Order: sequence, then structure tokens, then C-alpha cells
Amino acid sequence: MQRILIDTDPGVDDALAILFAMLSPELHIEAITTVCGNVSVEQATQNLFTIFGLLDLNEYPVIAQGEAQPLVKPLVTATHVHGDDGLGNTNYLINADDNPVYIPADIDPSSLSGVDLILEMAARYPDDLIIVALGPLTNLAKAIRKDPTKMQRLRRIVMMGGAFEAYGNVTTTAEFNIFVDPHAAHEVFQFGVPIHIVPLDATHQVVLTGERLHAEIENREDTVSCFLWDATQACMEFYRQRVGFWGLHIHDALPIGMLTHPEYFESVDANVQVETTSKLTNGMTVADLRPERRPRNPNAHVCIKVATEAFLDIFFERLQ
Ligand code: RIB
Ligand code: CA
Repeated sequence: MQRILIDTDPGVDDALAILFAMLSPELHIEAITTVCGNVSVEQATQNLFTIFGLLDLNEYPVIAQGEAQPLVKPLVTATHVHGDDGLGNTNYLINADDNPVYIPADIDPSSLSGVDLILEMAARYPDDLIIVALGPLTNLAKAIRKDPTKMQRLRRIVMMGGAFEAYGNVTTTAEFNIFVDPHAAHEVFQFGVPIHIVPLDATHQVVLTGERLHAEIENREDTVSCFLWDATQACMEFYRQRVGFWGLHIHDALPIGMLTHPEYFESVDANVQVETTSKLTNGMTVADLRPERRPRNPNAHVCIKVATEAFLDIFFERLQ
């Protein structure tokens, strides 16, 4: 059993990752904190309630709302990809009775801030808590600033972000989570806690095609299957128009898969740095991944290869 805290900016792929984690017996989600990114942190928190409403649960992980702004840069969101509400506009779907199709779970968030809930969980489970970071690293950087001693006791950080031998998805060189808050990423990468990075180099190896998704859910009427279809349409249309295929990259689901099935993932040691000042390459993650250049004192393990079909099979097995 792995104790995890998910830090997230839901986000369509975040939603798929959270469902994957909640339906995986290898993981115990102690808490979930929201952060600004794909959408405002307020909308991210609201989306978390919608995601929880998809599952008939007796109890939920503790939730706390995190930071509303990056450390330095003004917030840049991605509603053009994830829909105006960040969940493929599923929050706006109304059924024949004029009621919302997806009803958010009726739960109250913690009175703690996201940063303080991270610190509380790090202190409660020393050397045992894994933070799964699926959005910009603002909450983690602020928690490190506030109490580095507690954060030093994290077992590790597993995160989606960066692009090394792949192009960025915001600019030519920058991936979204790092681009939004490069200063936070710099502070997290330099902190010294073991960190496993799943960059675009890995997440672009996994394509959830519209055809595969349709085949998986076409004879199913359960809420999660309906949500999988409804929530991904906006994203898949974006990909069809901008990237050239009907499907999407489920970036954030891969760090979850790295925890449940590490054998599907291959990583290399690296010394990762982040560009925080250049206009042209702001948010770029820089590391030399060549075998002959592997560092003796790495600050991160970077995932470079995924067993894509095996991963997709386990993803769908868990979500159904
Ligand atoms: O670049 C992909 C990442 O940015 C994912 O975490 C996605 O949810 C967006 O936040
Ligand atoms: Ca995300």
C-alpha cells in the first residue's frame, strides 16, 4: 500500500488520473490539494467535487484548496484545451429533467490551506508519503519554503511535467505545468527530495484514441464510462483540429500508472534545471539524457519509455 497526496489542477486528464488512483487498490489517497493551472484554483476545487460525485463512496480523501497564483508569473490557464469549466464542460450538461447530469459530491473542504494540508500529511507520515503532482508545482514550492524540515521527510515526489527530447506543448520548449510556474519547479528540483518526472517525452507515447475510448465504453451505461466520454470530447476536438488526430494524451494518468505498475516505465537519472528568466525559452526543463552524460549526483529520475498498450489496458481495467 502506497500512501499518496495528489496535488492537481483538474483538468480533464487530471480527472482521469484521480479516478484511476481512486480505483487502484495499490494506492491509498490520504489527501488531495488543488492548485491553479488548467483553470482557477476555485474551479479546480469545484471540479474535484464533480469528480468525487462520479463514485459512490462512503468516505472521501481530505481536500484542501491551494494557491491561486504562481510564485512570480501571472496565471496562464488552459481552458482552450480542457473546456471553459476545465472538465470538458461536463459541469454544464443538463438531463431531460433539467438537472445536472454530473452532480458534485456534497463534501466540505478542509479549513486548512493546500500548503498546510501538504505539511500536515508530510508530518503525519514521515518517510512514507508520496506526493503525486499533476499541475504546476506552486503548492509544493510554498510548502518547502514554509517548512523544509517536514518536506525533507517526503518519501518521494512523482510528477507530470517538463519536456526534454520532445517539444513543449505551450511554447516550442516549455511544457504547461512547468511553464505556468517555472520558479516553483526550480525550487522543487533543487530541494533534494527524490523526484520522478514523467515528461511529455513519455506522455506523448500514450495516445487515447477516440476509437479506443468508444470501443471501451460503447456498451456501458455506468457514470464513470459516460463521464469518460463526455469529458474528453472537447479535448479530442482540440487535438483533431490542432494536432491532427481524434484522441488525446492522458498525461496525468501516467504518474499514477508509474505507482501501480512501475514495470511499465523506464527512467534515467538526470540533473534537471529550469529556465526561469529567458523570454524565448521560459519554463524549459534542461537535462542531458545521453547515456554517456548520466550524472553521478542526479536530482531527478526522468521517465523516457512507457509500455503503452499494457498501460492503456490496466487504465481501462481499473476504470471499469
Ligand atoms: O502538459 C500537460 C499537463 O498540463 C497536464 O498536467 C495537464 O493537466 C496540464 O495541467
Ligand atoms: Ca494537470
